[in-house]
Amino acid sequence: MKAFVIFACVCAVAHAQFGSFGQNTQRSGQNTQRSGQNRNQQSAFGSQQSAFGNQQSAFGNQQNSYSQPQPQPKIQSAGSCKELNERYPVPGSCDRYIECINGTAEEKLCPDGLRFNPNLNFNVYPCQYPNDYQCLERSSLQPPQPTADCPNQFGYFKLGDARNCSYFRNCVNGVGYDFTCPDGLAFSSETYRCDWPDEVADCDAEAFLGFRCPEVPISRELGPPAGYRFYRSDTNCQKYFLCIEGRPRALACGGDTAFDELTSSCVAADEVEACPVELKTSAARARKEAKENLALELSLNSLTPQQKRRNY
Ligand SMILES: *[C@@H]1O[C@H](CO)[C@@H](O)[C@H](O)[C@H]1NC(C)=O
Ligand SMILES: *[C@@H]1O[C@H](CO)[C@@H](O)[C@H](O)[C@H]1NC(C)=O
Repeated sequence: MKAFVIFACVCAVAHAQFGSFGQNTQRSGQNTQRSGQNRNQQSAFGSQQSAFGNQQSAFGNQQNSYSQPQPQPKIQSAGSCKELNERYPVPGSCDRYIECINGTAEEKLCPDGLRFNPNLNFNVYPCQYPNDYQCLERSSLQPPQPTADCPNQFGYFKLGDARNCSYFRNCVNGVGYDFTCPDGLAFSSETYRCDWPDEVADCDAEAFLGFRCPEVPISRELGPPAGYRFYRSDTNCQKYFLCIEGRPRALACGGDTAFDELTSSCVAADEVEACPVELKTSAARARKEAKENLALELSLNSLTPQQKRRNY
């Protein structure tokens, strides 16, 4: 009986050591895999890295709130396997999981900032960004591992403030890569997407876009006015604002077109009084050229094949 107890204890110690050893190798494996992705991102977005210097100060604050001590979840011994290959969560944890490969169970830990999603196919990498998988209530995460750039090793983080909503940072292995949403859109920390600013809770859409929707008088007989309202920007004739329930969204006319308030549509810029001379001239020239090309095409099409050959 005594011998059995001692044997069981040695086993437990051996298991604990192996358990954590296994995690380390697994994580460094992921690191090398991810650093491959790094290189791609770095080259594609090299130009954006120069913006770093300014942004670090803004991050200092955030880091503090992230690095509050959190209770470290207890390492549990690896569970048993019902199937040869499967993964299932460690109870109470959002980033630890048991992975069974060929019937051998091993406890694993997602990289800092990612969560274990138990609903994925076994062939898929099981750790995902928080927008893809929400933790159950009261489940714990490993303590964050912030760097100078990032509050977590992995994730997407909003930069700027409520008036400056389009900047965000993607952290990969603690290295930050900065991005900007397309014009007029704001980064949403909830969806990890660039969204209309009126749909992003921590963005002040009016301040961000520099436009406040005019109040529309409510008629006593007809009730609130129906439909959307459009307003051309005072400073840029190609930009305009769409007001939905009193909140603005910024849109723009492309090419040589500008916004016409009368028809609420994009028309040739030389038809819009408010546009600067250069844009009007360029729009007029483009229209003239288009007309000439069309005329040429029509005259060519009306020629016989013999005439065409002579012309070329
Ligand atoms: C899984 O186990 C079987 C039987 O023990 C063995 O033949 C096979 O090589 C193992 N496969 C892997 C991938 O370890
Ligand atoms: C907006 O935020 C970005 C990122 O933090 C920063 O680089 C930029 O200077 C800010 N712009 C303004 C006008 O505050």
